[in-house]
Amino acid sequence: MTASARKRIGELRKELERASELYYNHGSSDLSDSDYDARWAELVELETAHPDLVTPDSPTQRVGAPLPKGSSFDKADHLVPMLSIESLTNEEEVREFDARARKSLASDDDEEEEREEAPLHWVAEPKLDGVSANLLYENGEFVRGLSRGDGTTGEDITQNLRTIRNLPLRLAIDDPPARIEVRGEVIMNRDAFARLQAESETTQDTPFRNARNTVAGTLKLLDPRTVARRPLDFICFGIGHAEGLEVASHSELRDLLDRSGFTLATPYEQSEGIDGVVAYRDRLEADRDEMPYEMDGIVAKLDSVEEQHRLGRTARAPRWALAFKFAPRRATTRVLGITAQVGRTGKITPVAELEPVEIAGVTVRRATLHNWGLLDERDVRVDDHVEIERAGDVIPAVVEVHSDKRDKKSRKQKPPTECPTCASALEPEGAFLYCINLDCPDQLKGRIVHFASRRALDIRRLGEKYVDQLIDAGLVKRLEDVYTLPDRKAEVLALDRWGEKSYDNLVEELDRAKSPPLAKFVLALGIRHVGEQTAKDLADEFDTLDALRNADEEALVGVHGVGEEVAASLIHFFALEETGRFLDAAFAAGLSIESSAAPAGGSLDGMTFCFTGGMTRMTRDAARALVEEHGARTSSSITKKVTHVVAGEGAGSKLAKAEKLGLEVLTEDEFLEIVER
Ligand code: IVH
Repeated sequence: MTASARKRIGELRKELERASELYYNHGSSDLSDSDYDARWAELVELETAHPDLVTPDSPTQRVGAPLPKGSSFDKADHLVPMLSIESLTNEEEVREFDARARKSLASDDDEEEEREEAPLHWVAEPKLDGVSANLLYENGEFVRGLSRGDGTTGEDITQNLRTIRNLPLRLAIDDPPARIEVRGEVIMNRDAFARLQAESETTQDTPFRNARNTVAGTLKLLDPRTVARRPLDFICFGIGHAEGLEVASHSELRDLLDRSGFTLATPYEQSEGIDGVVAYRDRLEADRDEMPYEMDGIVAKLDSVEEQHRLGRTARAPRWALAFKFAPRRATTRVLGITAQVGRTGKITPVAELEPVEIAGVTVRRATLHNWGLLDERDVRVDDHVEIERAGDVIPAVVEVHSDKRDKKSRKQKPPTECPTCASALEPEGAFLYCINLDCPDQLKGRIVHFASRRALDIRRLGEKYVDQLIDAGLVKRLEDVYTLPDRKAEVLALDRWGEKSYDNLVEELDRAKSPPLAKFVLALGIRHVGEQTAKDLADEFDTLDALRNADEEALVGVHGVGEEVAASLIHFFALEETGRFLDAAFAAGLSIESSAAPAGGSLDGMTFCFTGGMTRMTRDAARALVEEHGARTSSSITKKVTHVVAGEGAGSKLAKAEKLGLEVLTEDEFLEIVER
């Protein structure tokens, strides 16, 4: 028993690590998300049943226990100090740096002048805008991770770093160095940050300002479980102390780190002479917004380790590496006014109208001030000098106020007392203010764009520009009016940029959108606090819109991820007269929502299966698919709804729970009999 569990655990760990590695370092994986999850669940279960087989390098062991409240991280010295790097902002300085390096390398050479002419072999990679960390590996095992600190001493954030999925807990090479410090940058990629920001938009008073700040804040958290939920990546750029390691160049080092399982900064380029470095920097700056993560410049290093040694370092920085920075994404400007903007959920956002300022090639005229609570706290006023940041596609934000330069007569900004668009009353919720009128034109715009967005009903012809037009022309006054657009051909065709073809597309897309899956429809409704995941969870739980509409607080709060706030928001939304009116109109127009429940008529109708432990004749995924085909539902945990538990080899805590609840427990054979019946 233990022997087979040990073998299976080994297999699962290998598969999971391999899948992670492929995913992070090669952008693809041979396991689907659900296969990955199934293997993960199986591993957790086996390890629960056999605690003696749990080892620290298991992928399940990435999350440790939280530190007690009020405590702080231990401090420790880096084995080799973490230096800074000489930061250059123009081409001339970069050419001088190269010339100095050439000269210095030539001076301990016999044929000095000739050497000075010879181009140096530079390598260049992005300068990642994250938070640096120093990882110590002993005999291939990750034993400690420090923050940079003051360069000499850092904080021991091992438990937080362990949660980073692409950080190898064990080096994937056969003869790892006895001891090595691996250095790199902890980052959050752009997509992951945008998602996190969107999710937290309505629930957090203090928004995540930018990816770098979020990473810095995350690594300081005392609870690794929270850290584990934030999508961090570790991108490696070099080493510190190393015992038992022979590499002659940075390129060779990168190759070794790559084989060890690290993610390296890309694109990576080698160049004979400094010209290539300058060109590389210009190219990356131009592509900056297309890159998966934020970078604030490039780093160029001499490839040869021997040359690195000969050049040595100054007190602060090595003489063999330089940073060539991009144009800053921050700028100082003045606030001309503070206005209020109405979003799709009625949320009123304060916006700073600015004296136009150019930030990295884009003229910025407005910046968000996030919410009224934060505006009050930061105390941004009209006429203030402020610091603006524009990171990638993110909306520019006011990040600092220079209140020292402020006029004595300036007055604190007051929040609006009525909706700036429709003059309706406002409702406060935490630091936020909401317009209560669902038909408020600004709200309507946002709601339709959201309703039609790709993740919701995917009606491409209802993008922002077109919706503006339809509303301005008075063709759409309420959300339900979108369903009547097919009957108003002449009026639509009279608008700019609309022709037969685009009109036909709209009609076709609206038609398709009349039979959406429940989760997409719930998301499309734009209910405050109900994002994509919550919409899915609600659909899974309630199966039909009617059931969801009639659910009371108790039923709602039972759903994964739904707390009192979300429940209250749902109840409020479905109680609104406007909601009833919209749904009536939608159904009258032919809306028919696909139920989330399994199709009726299968031989396993009404049953809910939960699989636990390893099966011998098929994977658990295959078993799940099989019962779903026969009309049953599946659950990954033991709940009241489960009717049948199938316990395979090594079934652990779930089996115990099932027995405690007195549920029917089947062996794999018994299960197959039922299915084949
Ligand atoms: S090399 C001795 N490479 O920039 C030089 N640093 O180093 C070692 N950084 O705060 C640094 N991307 O965290 C190097 N590709 C890269 C980098 C990089 C970002 C950061 C690093 C440090 C600063 C100076």
